[in-house]
Amino acid sequence: MRSIAERDLGTPEIQATAEVSLTIDGLQVRVPAGTSVMRAAALAGLSIPKLCATEQLEPFGSCRLCLVQIEGMRGFPASCTTPVAEGMKVSTQNAKLGQLRRGVMELYISDHPLDCLTCPANGHCELQDMAGAVGLREVRYGYAGANHLDAPKDESNPYFTFDPSKCIVCSRCVRACDEQQGTLALSIGARGFESTVVASQNESFLESECVSCGACVQACPTATLSEKSLIEIGQAEHSIVTTCAYCGVGCSFRAEMRGEQLVRMVPNKDGHANHGHSCVKGRFAIGYATHPDRILKPMIRAAITDPWREVSWEEAIAHAASELRRIQARYGRDSIGGITSSRCSNEETFLVQKLVRAGFGNNNVDTCARVCHSPTGYGLKSTLGESAGTQNFDSVMAADVIMVIGANPTDGHPVFASQMKRRLRQGARLIVADPRRIDLVRSPHIRADFHLQLKPGTNVALINSLAHVVVTEGLVKEDFVRERCEVPSFEQWRQFIAQPHNSPEAMEPITGVPAATVRAAARLYATGGNAAIYYGLGVTEHSQGSTMVIGIANLAMATGNLGREGVGVNPLRGQNNVQGSCDMGSFPHEFPGYRHVTDAGVRAQFEQAWQVPLLAEPGLRIPNMFEAALDGEFKALYIQGEDIAQSDPNTQHVTAALTAMECIIVQDLFLNESAKFAHVFLPGSSFLEKDGTFTNAERRISRVRKVMQPKCDYADWEVTQLLANALGLAMNYRHPSEIMDEIARLTPTFTGVSYEKLDRLGSIQWPCNAQHPEGTPTMHVDSFVRGKGRFLLTEYVPTSERVNARYPLILTTGRILSQYNVGAQTRRTDNVLWHDEDRVEIHPHDAEERGIREEDWVGVQSRAGETVLRARITSRVQPGVVYTTFHFPESGANVITTENSDWATNCPEYKVTAVQVMRVNQPSDWQRRYREFDRRQRTLLSEAHAGAAAADEARSG
Ligand code: SF4
Ligand code: SF4
Ligand code: SF4
Ligand code: FES
Repeated sequence: MRSIAERDLGTPEIQATAEVSLTIDGLQVRVPAGTSVMRAAALAGLSIPKLCATEQLEPFGSCRLCLVQIEGMRGFPASCTTPVAEGMKVSTQNAKLGQLRRGVMELYISDHPLDCLTCPANGHCELQDMAGAVGLREVRYGYAGANHLDAPKDESNPYFTFDPSKCIVCSRCVRACDEQQGTLALSIGARGFESTVVASQNESFLESECVSCGACVQACPTATLSEKSLIEIGQAEHSIVTTCAYCGVGCSFRAEMRGEQLVRMVPNKDGHANHGHSCVKGRFAIGYATHPDRILKPMIRAAITDPWREVSWEEAIAHAASELRRIQARYGRDSIGGITSSRCSNEETFLVQKLVRAGFGNNNVDTCARVCHSPTGYGLKSTLGESAGTQNFDSVMAADVIMVIGANPTDGHPVFASQMKRRLRQGARLIVADPRRIDLVRSPHIRADFHLQLKPGTNVALINSLAHVVVTEGLVKEDFVRERCEVPSFEQWRQFIAQPHNSPEAMEPITGVPAATVRAAARLYATGGNAAIYYGLGVTEHSQGSTMVIGIANLAMATGNLGREGVGVNPLRGQNNVQGSCDMGSFPHEFPGYRHVTDAGVRAQFEQAWQVPLLAEPGLRIPNMFEAALDGEFKALYIQGEDIAQSDPNTQHVTAALTAMECIIVQDLFLNESAKFAHVFLPGSSFLEKDGTFTNAERRISRVRKVMQPKCDYADWEVTQLLANALGLAMNYRHPSEIMDEIARLTPTFTGVSYEKLDRLGSIQWPCNAQHPEGTPTMHVDSFVRGKGRFLLTEYVPTSERVNARYPLILTTGRILSQYNVGAQTRRTDNVLWHDEDRVEIHPHDAEERGIREEDWVGVQSRAGETVLRARITSRVQPGVVYTTFHFPESGANVITTENSDWATNCPEYKVTAVQVMRVNQPSDWQRRYREFDRRQRTLLSEAHAGAAAADEARSG
């Protein structure tokens, strides 16, 4: 189904330098060579009727509605599949064409229910439009013959219906699933009159391989595939462009609205990160925004054992401010701090760090990036000079070799994965380095050339052995290194990496990857043309996370794979704004733009702007805050949009630290796990309720636009502003655009950014300044940001988290497509149909040894704690390795993870925990305690609601 605000030119845009001139209906048209006649006509403002064509898909030529006449050509060619030619003369309208098109339409309509008035697509149906466009006035064949009008609907998918009675078998859905999504879940079954759309092996959509991305729904020109929300609510009346608030791909959407009601999210084909595609989360998992669990009134309580009391915003803010000041007066300036969120906007994050630095008077601010991509910042800054990925997503279309390390794009970054799969189907080669057999290793029409199935915790050993092959087999791009890099650092590195202990043969017993495979993969990466590395948390969340990022940068520099399209080092950032929250100065040692707090010049700039003295010493990182809390020195924390009690490692340690504090202020949509330890609850607003910007994994800044009023009265940035003012730090922003203006004034990489420019360009990749007024798609083009690229030594040091007889298996963790991180949002949507609990994956061999069968309850015990999950037996994991997701709090995945962390950044080592797994028949002690605490906290919350309702009644009575 089309979006209400987009025009479809029929076939995809062609990128060609040569142009062709032709005449269409007497109009002179000049278009890139290779353009279809249909698109050329549309560009000239003419519309040729069409049904099977859409500019999102390659032309197919099946419906025969788009016939035209071309001088000198026999018959009536389909304009969607006919490319333009120099001097061509085309007629799109004449009596014969009209007659032919009406004939085609008649056949379609004779097997189509004429229930237009009650059809959800009414007014937006291409079949209906085309009937009008060709002037169809009668259907001569009648409805008495065989037809499909009684074909049963498939309602199994929670978000869309499939009503085959309306299907015109145009194959747009099938092609969307193949070309756009790359899942290949659909086909046209049978032939002729019996032709019908089939999901997988003739299964329901829910049971099939369909991943519910919605591309087929968007492509369908009729109401056959329709969003259930559209059927329920009716057509939208206006739409607003905004940005998905889930993952770091940063897909652009049109929020289609009826008044304040969201009808559906339609991926924006002009979106620079997604080009009209989406995944199940961004398109459909939006119900959380209006879920009854949302807390819309501020609440306070003296102790976490007390019932909550709903209060006015004034009282909540005044109470929070007075508690923060009381605690500072009693325990000292540094006894309080704040945590910003990668789920919140740049503007909100900027304000929280400003509140901490200028209002609290310390640098105790940190962000959830601490626990995901902080090593990326450290590693890339040290080697290349900038803490961010080097490319845009589109760059993958110019890659010849793609190396994916410790990332699972089809689940974590699905829209980018679809683009990557498109490139792979075109013939790019693939190397996957992952302990688990992720989907990319083998999926329809894709097979990795090499799967380097290393043991968890041995990344650095692997990258060193890959680099060893490059150095010792003469595969270094010497020119690039001499010209672009610090030669002494390279020579030192070359000597180090060439040492025999870094060879694939020496590393094989450590990584578990056969040396010959490593050698072949290294040769492919170094000599296969443009080679691009994409990596994820499987790289960073290790005790040597920063070392591994450095190792990746070293390898890319040594092979000259930086500074142009198709190459690069690309961290796949997990959350929607994790790049932005780091950019905005969320770390305790850095101001916005990654400038150290010890830099007197930078500090002076901020002091002058904010009119307060600022501290020169870095503040506490999140783990240090916990330590200080347990030592009795850190007493209050303002947490915006972050759930440290579920997402940080060693849950029992975290909750002990939270319990030790006197005032925890949580600003969130729901009573999340951290809020159960809070004393002040400030309701948050969803991304639909506020203006701002997010910065995705490509450094792309995109606008988030308010499509409805905040349900709790204030957007999050306004709440921080209220708190700042109550603490005596004057903030008087009238709109987030004013916050962005301040960010631009104070941050060299943002000086050219403004809302006006974002509205004009659609999105901007920073750096955006005088040198790059419209942003920077590819970094380090002529030189590295730091000048010369720097090689650093990356000695492999095994993690101290070792297996032994008591804990013989390694647990590693990850995400799944349908759920998102701590699951606070996706658990409150129908996405639970695909994943309603976290399970532990175990290899058949390890399961058999322990007598574990599929679905058995198993205890997973580590040095930190124990939890109980159900078993899934699969050879996706290798023997000796178990795997789980962490989307449900009661799973307690982080009860088992330890406090081991990256040496440079303290990023936790989530990916390596030594565990034992055994059959059990009851929950763990922690789970029992958790359930009791959770039940108690929910009761205290409902008492608050009941108390408020009673007070309201008393007032009105
Ligand atoms: S929703 Fe996506 S994955 Fe499912 S059938 Fe449609 S295009 Fe394919
Ligand atoms: S379901 Fe829609 S897109 Fe697919 S073949 Fe039928 S009409 Fe075409
Ligand atoms: S890929 Fe990421 S940004 Fe895009 S729709 Fe899905 S969750 Fe949203
Ligand atoms: S639109 Fe050209 S054949 Fe269908």
